[in-house]
Amino acid sequence: MKASDDFIRRLPKAELHIHIEGSFEPELMFEIARRNGVRIPFDSVEAVRAAYEFEDLQSFLDIYYQGMGVLLAERDFYDLTMAYLRRARDDGVVHTEIFFDPQGHTGRGVAFETVLNGIWKALRDGERQLGITSRLIMCFLRHLDEDDALRTLDQAIAHRDRIAGVGLDSSEVGHPPGKFERAFARAREAGFVAVAHAGEEGPPAYVEEALDLLHVARIDHGNRALESMALVKRLEAERIPLTVCPLSNLKLCVVPDLREHPLKQMLEAGLVATINSDDPAYFGGYVLDNFTAVRDALDLSADDIVTLARNSITASWADEIQKNRWLAEIDAMISASI
Ligand code: HPA
Ligand code: ZN
Repeated sequence: MKASDDFIRRLPKAELHIHIEGSFEPELMFEIARRNGVRIPFDSVEAVRAAYEFEDLQSFLDIYYQGMGVLLAERDFYDLTMAYLRRARDDGVVHTEIFFDPQGHTGRGVAFETVLNGIWKALRDGERQLGITSRLIMCFLRHLDEDDALRTLDQAIAHRDRIAGVGLDSSEVGHPPGKFERAFARAREAGFVAVAHAGEEGPPAYVEEALDLLHVARIDHGNRALESMALVKRLEAERIPLTVCPLSNLKLCVVPDLREHPLKQMLEAGLVATINSDDPAYFGGYVLDNFTAVRDALDLSADDIVTLARNSITASWADEIQKNRWLAEIDAMISASI
């Protein structure tokens, strides 16, 4: 049996791989640019969208860093985050774990606290007004050096109560996880949970480094882990979740066609795969679009869809009581549909 769009929307889901700067829709970008007196090198929203044709991760990152350049004030980060939360809520996301890239802002003179305060206030309002719970994950930009990451970590430690984890993003190839071993050791010592992007473009060895050297609790993407049988067995045995992003993989040419996406193999291997939007404003879809795209391209069954929703809840860092409530809601939906 196939899962309908409405069934997928109603399933309680957690989103575990979303870069808040990647949810910056062109309409809001123009509005904030106008308010801040910043020039955008495009004439219209349509012209911006037309520029979103990428051939690899780097060609996307160049545009992504340019786009976030209009964010200057706390209110900008608030508006950005609130817009994402509303959109995620409409897709049936009940809990979200949001990446942010402080170095993309501090590097152009915006204070760490301006970024964090704006995002944080929106997350609090999102919980009160929309009922979405959340965690924040601060990413280190891996194309920068480890000393820059360590200085950023020092700023985050002062706000340990608002940041649950640290991650690693930006240009993967040539910047292996091992480059950040000291920064991650210090982050874990300070109580942050670790995650890292690995195996999006980088080889299986980068996934192994993330596990062995950074001691991550989840792997972001992880597609290329499937090239190593030993690594697949290990991910399965250790129940390491993968935060998979299908439409991102298609737009960044990680897969040539969604019908060749490795998600189904991941599920067949018993891996804890989850579905996420990564940078939805750039890749043409939020969580629900990602679910329906893989359902159709890979011919996923309703059981597969339910497994993916369940995985997202169990792999999240939400309160255990809350997780059990959502899992029970999923069970009730299945009973009602039989
Ligand atoms: N990969 C690496 N870095 C990123 C991504 C991604 O998919 N999105 C935003 N920064
Ligand atoms: Zn990502």
